[in-house]
Amino acid sequence: MVHSRITGTGSYLPGRVLTNYELEQMVDTTDEWIRDRTGIRERRIAEREQAASDIGLIASKEALKAAGLKPRDIDLIIVATVTPDMPLPSTACFLQDKLGAKNAAAFDINAACSGFIYALSVADAYIRAKVYSRILIVGSEVLSRITDWKDRTTCVLLGDGAGAAVLEADRSKRGVISVKIHADGSKWDLLYVPAGGSRQPASEETVGTRLHYLKMRGNETFKVAVRTLEKLVVDMLEENGITPDDLSLLVPHQANHRIISATAKRLGIGMERVMLNLDRYGNTSAASIPIALDEAVRTGRIKEGDYILLEAFGGGLTWASALIRW
Ligand code: ACO
Repeated sequence: MVHSRITGTGSYLPGRVLTNYELEQMVDTTDEWIRDRTGIRERRIAEREQAASDIGLIASKEALKAAGLKPRDIDLIIVATVTPDMPLPSTACFLQDKLGAKNAAAFDINAACSGFIYALSVADAYIRAKVYSRILIVGSEVLSRITDWKDRTTCVLLGDGAGAAVLEADRSKRGVISVKIHADGSKWDLLYVPAGGSRQPASEETVGTRLHYLKMRGNETFKVAVRTLEKLVVDMLEENGITPDDLSLLVPHQANHRIISATAKRLGIGMERVMLNLDRYGNTSAASIPIALDEAVRTGRIKEGDYILLEAFGGGLTWASALIRW
């Protein structure tokens, strides 16, 4: 049976570091509150001229290099983002042009923080159906552009960054074992950007009333996330006959260390088997999992044959998980 295997990963974090101490000067918050409630110490902020396709490009080049492929080898590019360069065309089309990936189709996915696993699911399905055999998937976010720097309940959480992975058709025992994606649109109002779409197009009023920034009901989101993710990860392992002891590494979406440790506890695995980097990068939405995955690969935390579990929860609401044999 043909399935997909990740043959290369890459990531990029902008150089500018924004610390909790700097945020103390911007809004009514403290380093202690942010660290205790979220685990975040600092995050990265893109340069003014960097849009999602620019930072995604750097991550993509790294992933292609790691896979030993040229841009022209790629059949399809999928970019997961909630901060596209423009509403039209897709960020994937910008990326295709910048890479020179002339043979690739290209489109975006919006599934907020679950976007990378959604992209993985689509890519894996195309490969299993033998439609495409080499696919580049990218999570790229410049969340600083939709962050309300006057809202302490959200601005302390978010950061910019990009991660990418190359998937190739494979017939070995390694690769993507299972990917599951889910949504509950009835809870859309826990996490959203009110204006800039067809419901409330940009106007002087929407700009004046700060409606182009991300709004979140954090505490409610937190509770649903913990409940949902605990079940998600247990079900994924059970359905595939994998025990928590078999699992080498959990690579969670990096939103909040309390959510992540609750998920690990439910699985019965120690935090030494959990990939964590939100202390340095904050929540980078669709980029967080590919950035964490790339870091885990490059620091030797993932080895051939390891079982890896990815999981995410985000706006939509959406949630998703993927079990991979590396
Ligand atoms: N500094 C100081 N105090 C603050 C801050 C801040 N930055 N932000 C909020 N507070 C205050 C609140 O006003 C509240 O004060 P009150 O008790 O006087 O009313 C108090 O702290 C507690 O607020 P809560 O919102 O209940 O705090 P909570 O423990 O829930 O932590 C947090 C907030 C960190 C946002 C948490 O709820 C969370 O992580 N939620 C989930 C986020 C998430 O996973 N989102 C999905 C992905 S994001 C995406 O898709 C882009």
